[in-house]
Amino acid sequence: MDWCTPMEFFKELDAEFHFTLDAAATPKSAKCSKYFTVEDNALEQDWGGHAVFINPPYGRTLGKWVEKAYREGQKANTTVVLLIPARTDTTYFHKYILGKAEIRFLRGRLKFTDENGMAKDAAPFPSLVAIYRGRDGGV
Ligand SMILES: C[S@@+](CC[C@H](N)C(=O)[O-])C[C@H]1O[C@@H](n2cnc3c(N)ncnc32)[C@H](O)[C@@H]1O
Repeated sequence: MDWCTPMEFFKELDAEFHFTLDAAATPKSAKCSKYFTVEDNALEQDWGGHAVFINPPYGRTLGKWVEKAYREGQKANTTVVLLIPARTDTTYFHKYILGKAEIRFLRGRLKFTDENGMAKDAAPFPSLVAIYRGRDGGV
């Protein structure tokens, strides 16, 4: 549930969005110089004004993360790019992603890594990227 985003995949997104905040990280796994950790609790932080990358923990609180990404992603001068499993039967997908975000379903399965960048087997689930471009078009 705390596996890291494959660096090559992140770099492709970063080239497009120029992220300024990794909203769910550890000091070692952070993809941006500004990041929130579990101690900061990103769910209670203001993400406004940033180009945010977020690969949240895939546990029971995932719905709360998707709602938070949606809400922060409505702010002015803010872009939120959310990487999650493509579970299209979930309430959070229908409530906060479908018809509200730009959705990119990934072809194939990501190979998430540990904090040292060591890849595991391909994920046993498909992934999607949901993009919220603020109420004014984003950062
Ligand atoms: C799926 S990992 C992503 C790690 C890294 N940002 C990446 O994309 O490679 C989720 C991260 O969120 C962190 N995390 C868990 N709860 C959090 C919280 N409430 N606020 C901020 N980060 C949290 C975990 O420690 C973990 O490092």
